[in-house]
Amino acid sequence: MPKSEFDDEFLRLVEEFNTSAGAVERRSRILSALDLRPGDHVLDVGAGPGHQVAEIATAVPGGLVKGVDSAESAITIARKRWTRLDNVEFVSGDAYKLPFENAAFNVVMSSQVFEYLDNVAAALSEIFRVLKPKGRVLIHGTEWGALLWRSSDAERMARFMSIWNGHLADPHMPQTLAKKLRTAGFKAVKAEPVVHVETNYDPSSMSAILMKFVVGYVVSRGVSQDEADAWVDDLLGLDATGEHFFSSNEYIFSAEKP
Ligand SMILES: C[S@@+](CC[C@H](N)C(=O)[O-])C[C@H]1O[C@@H](n2cnc3c(N)ncnc32)[C@H](O)[C@@H]1O
Repeated sequence: MPKSEFDDEFLRLVEEFNTSAGAVERRSRILSALDLRPGDHVLDVGAGPGHQVAEIATAVPGGLVKGVDSAESAITIARKRWTRLDNVEFVSGDAYKLPFENAAFNVVMSSQVFEYLDNVAAALSEIFRVLKPKGRVLIHGTEWGALLWRSSDAERMARFMSIWNGHLADPHMPQTLAKKLRTAGFKAVKAEPVVHVETNYDPSSMSAILMKFVVGYVVSRGVSQDEADAWVDDLLGLDATGEHFFSSNEYIFSAEKP
């Protein structure tokens, strides 16, 4: 996705998404996998509005958390939102050229960002550089090929998801990440699944907010607003008859710098 597309509307939806029950549960899974210690120095690459940074901050008393993002608007939102925290810092910068010294962090994490990177190897090499020896990396992302979203029009659903996947550099990023982590020099590579399932529609659920992202994106790629609205009506209609089903497969990868 070109950086220009991480615009204010995209980031507003990321903020809304981050308050959904699924995203809250996901962050708590990431936090527990991070296994942080008081005093840790932690970096979140592609921190967006900074929800995960704020949660990490409370887990590292005496430590420091930095969030880096290439979108200026994300940095502005995050700085405004988290003024009450005194051990966080939001920095403008690119995953391919992290604006930090070598060996500056004990832990580096990134969530829902590597799917957008067209050069994962370059970003991993930067993470390797800024980690201390024995430091840990954690990368969370979605396997978009494993998304299940019940619809009464399978062709339209597949077409919309195929268009939607075009907003990512690699919708199947998790499938190749383990090898890329090892190639970058990391050891003890592990992956654990995070499966999010909904059997009821709720306007604040993950699927409801994803629906808004998808409608905006497919319409920007030439689908008519009428057809996008018909897709939404179909999904809401399925909920009305008790048939809502949405499930995403996400993965948390972790590894260590020797
Ligand atoms: C889907 S959002 C996820 C934000 C945040 N990690 C979260 O889970 O709320 C993707 C974020 O990655 C950032 N991003 C994309 N490419 C980047 C790059 N090359 N360097 C730094 N940040 C990047 C975007 O600006 C955006 O804020």
